[in-house]
Amino acid sequence: MKEYTPIADFKNHVGEEVTIAGWCYNKRSSKKLYFIIVRDGSAMCQCVAFLPNLSEEIAKICEEINQETSVIVTGKVKKDDRQIGGYELELTNIKIVSQSVDYPISPKEHGVAFLMENRHLWLRSKRQHAILRIRHNIVMAIRNFFNERGFINVDAPIFTPNAAEGTTNLFETEYFDQKAYLSQSGQLYMEAAAMAFGKVYCFGPTFRAEKSKTRRHLTEFWMVEPEVAYMELAEDMELAEQFVESVVQHVVKNCEEELKTLERDVEKLKKIKAPFYRMSYDEACEFLAQKKKEYAASDDEEKRKLAEDILKGGVGDDLGAADETVIGINHDKPVMIHRYPSEVKAFYMKEDPEHKGRVLCFDMIAPEGYGEIIGASEREADIEVLESKIKKAGMSLEPFKWYLDIRRYGSVPHSGFGLGIERTVAWICSLTHVRETIPFPRMMDKIWP
Ligand code: 4AD
Ligand code: MG
Repeated sequence: MKEYTPIADFKNHVGEEVTIAGWCYNKRSSKKLYFIIVRDGSAMCQCVAFLPNLSEEIAKICEEINQETSVIVTGKVKKDDRQIGGYELELTNIKIVSQSVDYPISPKEHGVAFLMENRHLWLRSKRQHAILRIRHNIVMAIRNFFNERGFINVDAPIFTPNAAEGTTNLFETEYFDQKAYLSQSGQLYMEAAAMAFGKVYCFGPTFRAEKSKTRRHLTEFWMVEPEVAYMELAEDMELAEQFVESVVQHVVKNCEEELKTLERDVEKLKKIKAPFYRMSYDEACEFLAQKKKEYAASDDEEKRKLAEDILKGGVGDDLGAADETVIGINHDKPVMIHRYPSEVKAFYMKEDPEHKGRVLCFDMIAPEGYGEIIGASEREADIEVLESKIKKAGMSLEPFKWYLDIRRYGSVPHSGFGLGIERTVAWICSLTHVRETIPFPRMMDKIWP
């Protein structure tokens, strides 16, 4: 491989002549000058061509370069705080690698639908670049957190014989002469792995055939799922808050430039430190009933509209998107809502011995209205209770035979959680829709490019 200097390394090359390889992001010219902004994936810099010092051939190349033409540029690195990235390249030579004609995404404003159709090119723009770099950092922070704490990474399968989260949103596929489903969650496999390794996590794509076109739903999303043997609900909550704190603070520390590009209010992120807020389901309902009254009487039309959707299913039902939004906008740190009614939660959650009809679970709601980012619980460890819960959920025991074995051979209390990467990226980057948080989003009405 040829060694080109990454633009991001210019700080180590001030005064030196370097060669960079990238694409033209933007170009403007005046009488004797061309200003060519080049991006190379690591960063951007302005290359200045001062024509009186350059050959006619170079002047002609500068003239021919378009937006996204690939170029190799040689020049001297100069420190200049006023320029993008704080440096400038005094161009001495330039070569076109390949021309780009009529690039569809111009620097002017485009609608989201158009940009989504051109997602494969949109990734090159400054904002998308910042978001996906932050995503990369979030993924790195997630892995670091668990690896540093003695967790073993165990990969879960994607083809599965049974539902993990309920039967309503499964993608069915043909698997030779039988049916299989795309995994909704790796959790059940992590429960088996936790009995082998103690502390484990999986990190992979998961699938939900949800017919909901909301700003928080994808049909394919990434989830990290830790699972720990001998861990109960209270410790699960502590693990989750330490985990989220560590991911957010990693981004604050390592993505200053990207957060600036997105105009993210970093002060709000700096506050994300454990302990987070805790509210029982019952307390959350009281809080929401209060807000419903308050918002209904508000002068603000948006709040009055929101009031209509608060506790829409009534107390006893699952909390909805509006409920999560209201809880989020009224708190400066995540809120962990625990002990939901059993009927609204998945079959594997442990019944609360102290409150009949409730399960030992929690959802973590992000602040600022970004909704649920974590679903969590202690798991039912008793084989008979678990069998009756599977049947009650309308599923047959047969495909769960292996899962029930976990309770048959040395069952222990165990807990875990799942954090959705895209909603976490949306919150940290302050994006209103999850579609920009993943390189190639899959939604009900989107499978291209
Ligand atoms: O609450 P969920 O469904 O929990 C589980 O799947 C558990 N088995 C996890 C576990 O305990 N190991 O999903 C967990 C998280 C949600 O809080 C949300 O962040 C994300 O996954 N999520 C989605 N993200 C984008 N699009 C969707 N359709 C999502 N559904 C869930
Ligand atoms: Mg959930």
